[in-house]
Amino acid sequence: MDVLLIGSGGREHAIAWKLAQSKKLGKLYIAPGNPGTAKCGENIPIGVNDIEKLVDFAKQNRIGLAVVGPEDPLAAGVVDAFEAAGIKAFGPSGPAAQLEADKAFAKQLMRSAAISAAEGRIFDRFSDAKAYIASRDEAVVVKAAGLAKGKGVFVCDDPADGILAAEKIMCDKTFGSAGDKIIVEDKLLGEEASILALVDGRNIYCLESSQDHKPIGDGDTGPNTGGMGAYSPAPVVTEPLMNKITREILVPIVDGMNRNDTPYKGVLYAGVMITGGGPRVLEFNVRFGDPETQPILMRLKSDLLEACLAVCDGKLDKITLKWDHRPAVCVVMASGGYPGDYEKGKIITGLDEADKIKDVVVFHAGTAEKDGDIVTNGGRVLGVTALGKTISEAKARAYEAVDKIKFDGAYCRRDIADKAIRIKN
Ligand code: AMP
Ligand code: GLY
Repeated sequence: MDVLLIGSGGREHAIAWKLAQSKKLGKLYIAPGNPGTAKCGENIPIGVNDIEKLVDFAKQNRIGLAVVGPEDPLAAGVVDAFEAAGIKAFGPSGPAAQLEADKAFAKQLMRSAAISAAEGRIFDRFSDAKAYIASRDEAVVVKAAGLAKGKGVFVCDDPADGILAAEKIMCDKTFGSAGDKIIVEDKLLGEEASILALVDGRNIYCLESSQDHKPIGDGDTGPNTGGMGAYSPAPVVTEPLMNKITREILVPIVDGMNRNDTPYKGVLYAGVMITGGGPRVLEFNVRFGDPETQPILMRLKSDLLEACLAVCDGKLDKITLKWDHRPAVCVVMASGGYPGDYEKGKIITGLDEADKIKDVVVFHAGTAEKDGDIVTNGGRVLGVTALGKTISEAKARAYEAVDKIKFDGAYCRRDIADKAIRIKN
């Protein structure tokens, strides 16, 4: 079967790398892809939001399955467009993707399904938000309701900073119309985990747990990013806790989506805070996490294409996924300045040496090819991912590979996986 994968990040390189191992795969096309995905299939110069061209390409090339990586085309209805053309597509419909694209919708749905989340209020006028935040004397979390590439969330220990964040989102429109509404939440304390599950509308199949590192700086300091590194499994998610998350979060949200006439199909990602009072939802995403997908798929032994087809066909109850029991760690190498302004076009060296290390894969994210060189082309540039017998070994191997790779201004956190290592010790 020929497959069209949509996206160009580290997550898509990991998905392409895994799909390319499938015995069922004919040709793999990636739109638009990056120099990493070019090694797994053929890159096609169509943007992720050019829905008409994507569907035309799929029709002309007899694509059997489209796999959608990022949230924007999902929210814009790319899956609905493929299905209207008679092409199977892995991912939720546009209305179901509002679970990520509209945090106000997600909040209301969680409330009606009695899912434990941070207490929060929704505002569409700055003056109301300001008055509410000013009336509080504890930490607040201020979130743009729409899509903001993981950067629209401000955790403010001082409510005065919360007012500034609300002003930035609602008045300065830093995230455009994504900031027409905001959510103001209580700050939750605890350990975070990313729970990804395949959902076929009815059945839920949890993938191995993982943990992201959102802030830019070591020790979780500085502004939030799209994610600076991840590991899988997350030792904080014990088996009883995973069962509780399934029972109290995943099942009720999938049921709630059905009741809401927005049935869910694809990967469902619950960002969860493990608090003293149990797991509470921070957010839902309607796609694979980036960078969580890199370590998760390094550990998947089963055929990803078969799993995607089982989701599309409503046959998740017929498959079993096998996992490498070894942990995996992904360290993101970013351009200096990210998540703020950064320069592009810096020549990257050492990629081949890093890739040669056993049990290491260097996933490309923001890279491009220029005059025979691989150069930087985005904020998050590479996801250097390694397996190890222990989480410490996986971490050491990932950083050994990182240290072989050079480009001007390269930045990475140095403490990826330390939390897991502390729990394990
Ligand atoms: P979100 O995109 O909503 O997951 O938020 C991004 C990140 O902000 C999360 O991964 C957390 O690190 C942090 N965050 C979001 N909501 C809260 C909250 N209510 N309490 C504490 N931290 C939060
Ligand atoms: N790693 C966070 C996300 O994919 O949203």
